[in-house]
Amino acid sequence: MKFSQTSRNELGMPLVGFGTYQLSGEQAEVCVRDALLAGFRHIDSAEGYQNEEGTGRGIKAAGVAREELFITTKVFPGYKPWGSEEKSYRDTIETLKRQLRELQLEYVDLYLIHAPFSQLRLDQWSACMELKKSGLTKHIGVANYNENRIQEILDAGLDKPESNQIEFHPLCAQVEITGFMKQHSIAPVAYSSLSPLSSWRVEEGQGGEVLAETKKEAQGVISDIANKLGVTDAKLLLRWVVQHGYCVLTKSSKPERIRDNLDIFNFEIPESSMRLMDKLDQNQAIAWAANGLNPMEIAAPLK
Ligand SMILES: NC(=O)c1ccc[n+]([C@@H]2O[C@H](COP(=O)([O-])OP(=O)(O)OC[C@H]3O[C@@H](n4cnc5c(N)ncnc54)[C@H](OP(=O)(O)O)[C@@H]3O)[C@@H](O)[C@H]2O)c1
Repeated sequence: MKFSQTSRNELGMPLVGFGTYQLSGEQAEVCVRDALLAGFRHIDSAEGYQNEEGTGRGIKAAGVAREELFITTKVFPGYKPWGSEEKSYRDTIETLKRQLRELQLEYVDLYLIHAPFSQLRLDQWSACMELKKSGLTKHIGVANYNENRIQEILDAGLDKPESNQIEFHPLCAQVEITGFMKQHSIAPVAYSSLSPLSSWRVEEGQGGEVLAETKKEAQGVISDIANKLGVTDAKLLLRWVVQHGYCVLTKSSKPERIRDNLDIFNFEIPESSMRLMDKLDQNQAIAWAANGLNPMEIAAPLK
């Protein structure tokens, strides 16, 4: 078996990370602690999730040595249509300092710009470079950046993002951007890889009902393959990402699912089934649909 629970990518990031979106502060505290006690060593946080104090308490409560952990967080860049001020260079620096206080950490392992929403995104990126230089983050990257947005950074002569966090699952296989990232050695991290499931974001206000109809056909194929392999549909989807060479993030508020979602290293998806799952691609982004946008498509080119 090529991968194990202790495998890490080229940035030292464990292949399966625990996500914290849509957890309240209290839930984040309990679930992050439980995830770490279950064996997760990679946590994905964000300014925009508004639960970093809880996440910090959960990390502390688990008592795992800091050097074993890989902690990612993100700056929300600002987005005018939502009434959110765009962050300057200085704002970006100050934001990570505040997040570190909330997380009770001296540094994070990876700091990301959450989306390319702002016209100030090159200033924000320069601030990330400075934060890396000063040791407040070990690595820097972006999320929801397509080829053009990454190319802007390269064209400006700034450091290459080390990682790009994007939606990735059989209905949204992101063929162009993943090819580009491979060419430029930018580490891929997948989010919302469980979004093809009918159990994805089903609680009130979580938004999972949007696009629920478009997933139905794929769910049949996914269940058939999972049944043949004797695993749950969720494990199959997470394993599919890892076999594509990606790190994968997964969130649950339920202790049993938290444990299960890390348990994907004792089976392998045969090549023929991988290809059947690959064929489900519709280039259909789902994760942000309830917000009425696709973050990889809305950013205007820089003036
Ligand atoms: N950069 C970005 O723009 C971006 C966007 C989205 C997500 N992310 C990150 O990626 C993480 C993962 O994405 P996600 O939050 O969409 O999580 P996900 O793991 O893809 O899906 C979570 C949903 O699936 C359910 N679920 C979890 N495990 C399950 C299982 N074993 N069987 C059946 N249902 C299960 C959860 O319900 P319960 O909680 O009720 O178990 C929840 O509704 C986020 O938490 C966040 O850290 C980043």
